[in-house]
Order: sequence, then structure tokens, then C-alpha cells
Amino acid sequence: MIIAPSILNLKEDEYDDKLQEFLDAGIKILHLDIMDGKFVSNTTKDIEIMEKVRKFPFFFEVHLMMFKPLEMAYKFIDLGANLIIFHYEAVNDVADTIKRLKEKGCKIGISIKPYTKIDVIKPYLKDIDSVLVMSVEPGFGGQTFIERSIDKIEELNKIRQQNNLNYLIEVDGGVNLSNSPLLKRRGTDVVVMGSFLINNDVKMIADKVKNL
Ligand code: DX5
Ligand code: ZN
Repeated sequence: MIIAPSILNLKEDEYDDKLQEFLDAGIKILHLDIMDGKFVSNTTKDIEIMEKVRKFPFFFEVHLMMFKPLEMAYKFIDLGANLIIFHYEAVNDVADTIKRLKEKGCKIGISIKPYTKIDVIKPYLKDIDSVLVMSVEPGFGGQTFIERSIDKIEELNKIRQQNNLNYLIEVDGGVNLSNSPLLKRRGTDVVVMGSFLINNDVKMIADKVKNL
């Protein structure tokens, strides 16, 4: 399984050392959480974060927790973002959002909150590269994994197999080494890991997740 560190709970002056540690541990994806204080009750900086981390050779996935995400998405794409993930619940026109991002040539992901059903994103699954299943309410790192997310992963995996689709299944929120093996068995490709990774031995965790 692939690991994508979230640096939401990292202080800015820790970025350089920690990101180098991620690279040394063979980690290739970096997950950036961007919040505007409206769609979720927390706020982060936005492109300033990208400006600080883009010198590192990661595949950058940007998780936009905001309404009207397109304008911000374009700024991130210009700075080198590779995958833009927007929230199903945050846009009025999902198909149009996908179309506009496609015109920019980036990869596209849709995220759904813990109580949003898979059914609503079914029509778009053929057009996207990734589904980010939120396993906590978006907004803060360090929360407890919501168990019912497992069923959604299984459902997404089934739909993918039955329809010969290629999207990645990513899981975000409360992921650790105890729940990762089950996530893998149910069809997860990428686990986003924030607090658990940052508070423990990065290389040890990266190796374990890689071998799942
Ligand atoms: C939450 C964010 C997550 C989160 C992950 O809204 O999208 O990426 O920071 O952190 P942990 O692993 O601590 O739940
Ligand atoms: Zn996230």
C-alpha cells in the first residue's frame, strides 16, 4: 500500500527536516490539507504551504476543504500540484468542476465526508483518478477513525472491479498501523497518515505500510 503523509499538524519550521525524512524513507506522495474556515471549521494557509514544500521532489496531492475550490486549485496547479482533490459536498456542479480541472491537465480526485454515500459520486467515477474517503470529519488531524468507512472502501472496490475502472481508493483520517492491514484488505491503495506518522518512527511505518 502507498503512504501519503499529511503535514497538517506539523509546524512550518519542521517542514524541511520532516520532508527530508519522508524522502529518505522512500515516501513519494505528500498530502496537503487546505481549509478556508467555511466548509470546515478550521483554517490553514494555502499557497504559502505549497511554496515552502515544492522544492522537495514529491507527487503533490492537494486536499481542498473549501467551497468553490476551482480558483484555489488553479493556483496550486501553477505551483506544481499533481493531484487536486475537491469535496463532493463543496461544489454545485461536479461534472463541470471535473471538466475544468481536466483542461488544466492535473489528476483529479473527489473526496467524500464520512456520512456521504458512495452512490452520489458513482456517475463521476469513470472520469477521475482518485476517491478520497474521509474516515474522520474533515477539519482536524488526530481524530479517531470512523469504522463505518470500511464499508465504503469495500463498495468502491467492488464498483471498480465490476466496471473495470482505474481510480485509486485513498483513506484519510485516523489511519495508523492497527487499521492499515484491514484497509488494505478491503481495497485501499493509498493511506493518508498525519499524527500517527509524525509522532512515530517514519521509516519503520513507511516500510510496514509499503509491505502490506
Ligand atoms: C483532516 C485531514 C487529514 C488529517 C489526517 O481533515 O484531511 O488529512 O490531517 O491526519 P490524521 O492522520 O492525524 O487523522
Ligand atoms: Zn486530508
